[in-house]
Amino acid sequence: MKEIIKSFSDHGTFVQSDTLDYILSKGNPHEFASFLTKNLKEYPLVLTVDHVKQVEQRNKEVPDEKKSSKGSLKIKEMQAKMFSVLYSGEIPAGPSPDTELEYDDPDKDDQIDVPEEEPKEFIPPVINISKVKSWKPQAAEYDSEINIIKDVTGNSICEGTTDDFNKLFLNRFNSLKKILRVQRRELANAMPINRVKKNDLNDIQIVGIVKEVRTTTNGHRLIELEDETDSAVCIVLKQNRDLLNIANEVVFDEIIGIRGKLSKNGDLIVINSIVYPEVSIQNQHHKSEVPLYAAFLSDIHVGSKQFMQDEWNSFLHWINGDMGNSRQRDVAGKIKYIVIPGDVVDGIGIYPNQDKELSISDVYRQYEALAEQIKTIPDHISLIMQPGNHDAVRPAEPQPTFEKEIQDLFSGMDITFVGNPCYFSLNGVEILSYHGQSLLDFATNIQHLKYNDPVETMKIMLKKHHLAPTYGGYTPLAPEHMDYMLIDRIPDIFVTGHVHLAQISEYRDVKLINASSWQSQTSYQKMLNFIPDSAKLPIVDLKTSNVTMMDFNKK
Ligand SMILES: [Fe+2]
Repeated sequence: MKEIIKSFSDHGTFVQSDTLDYILSKGNPHEFASFLTKNLKEYPLVLTVDHVKQVEQRNKEVPDEKKSSKGSLKIKEMQAKMFSVLYSGEIPAGPSPDTELEYDDPDKDDQIDVPEEEPKEFIPPVINISKVKSWKPQAAEYDSEINIIKDVTGNSICEGTTDDFNKLFLNRFNSLKKILRVQRRELANAMPINRVKKNDLNDIQIVGIVKEVRTTTNGHRLIELEDETDSAVCIVLKQNRDLLNIANEVVFDEIIGIRGKLSKNGDLIVINSIVYPEVSIQNQHHKSEVPLYAAFLSDIHVGSKQFMQDEWNSFLHWINGDMGNSRQRDVAGKIKYIVIPGDVVDGIGIYPNQDKELSISDVYRQYEALAEQIKTIPDHISLIMQPGNHDAVRPAEPQPTFEKEIQDLFSGMDITFVGNPCYFSLNGVEILSYHGQSLLDFATNIQHLKYNDPVETMKIMLKKHHLAPTYGGYTPLAPEHMDYMLIDRIPDIFVTGHVHLAQISEYRDVKLINASSWQSQTSYQKMLNFIPDSAKLPIVDLKTSNVTMMDFNKK
């Protein structure tokens, strides 16, 4: 068997376990393997049964076809029997000759409901990867440089009172007003709303929080802005198509600037332009001085029956230099950091009937199982782990990081636990990591945004300098006195997870990443007709800012 695996790994190809079973089921597996290596058009990263069958299809003359298939079937039957014994904990016995067999009489009206059998727990097995002697990861030569820039962890002070909300919105307003007035020339002469109303100005400039936004019966777009002095009803006329498109992106509770003029009777401001904080193109970007990479691995969902064990194992082989061609191993060797933006486990009670899809029904045991998996990641790699909406932390954002009881399960591992969202830097490169629950709010409130196109929403977030402005939507928000959802500095890399898609993009030199997932389609996603793009790993070269993606998906 080892020789067969080696014959493929020499070509940088990892053989999936069921592919190996398939090869071994052939009458002469060695001959069949060499037939495959000769007839494969190209060597994939992972050899699947589909690849093998395609080769067979192309070359009808397959050596020693199916001589032993009956034997392998028998083995599988035996294995199935053994598993049923192992999992039930009982040795099945035939009926005793003295015992009369019982049967259910369908006509009997006193039938008893048999309680549903308790689901069996399944802990993902930990694979054993032997050290690859020839592999010398470059990242092991450097120390980690992680700096936390902004995180609610340890700083949460809100109790949910009205006063807390006032402080949150005042902090948001003052921070963004400052950014708008300093960075946007269009608002250099912005005035408090009460003064604008007193002066009959031709060019009105105001900054405020969006208290109301709707389309009027005549098709105009009405935006009511409020500041600490007063409020003003502003309107985009329907004839102004371009401006109407911009106005359609305005959402409740965000801070915007408006330029316009008073209407003839003085009760409205007719809008000429809507000003967002935006991302300056002159923004300075940071780069690492040393050739290290960061990988982004989101939504692992350990504890779910849909956790993609095979793909995860391939990732573990690769990150240990035990899989891939020389270029791919070189990439693995440069990875110094793995950023995990939330949903590290599947959690419990997150959506209706989730318990039916859990392989581990206790949330702490889910974290224990994750910790066992993470131990296989090489020691020279530092992990940055953040919670998401499936994790056992408070649901309201900003979410402080995992409690000590959970962190202790990972003791001895190089993990920095951070909150959600969090700003941090890796070798000087600034990263904004946010799990991404508000992606759904944006897609609901802004017509042209789609849930399955997260990077487009991330561009809007950057433009607005806010991750989740709207209170009362899908994203629960905690009224901290400082607005941690504010994008008050432009990161070099902005990463989200949550939607289980693998996307890479860029906005004004900011790298945008949605970091895939390690869970295949759930019944909930199926019901929503949503197809995840799982088992992919976006990687950023911190020295050059180049982004690549490793694909471990075997489907
Ligand atoms: Fe998730």
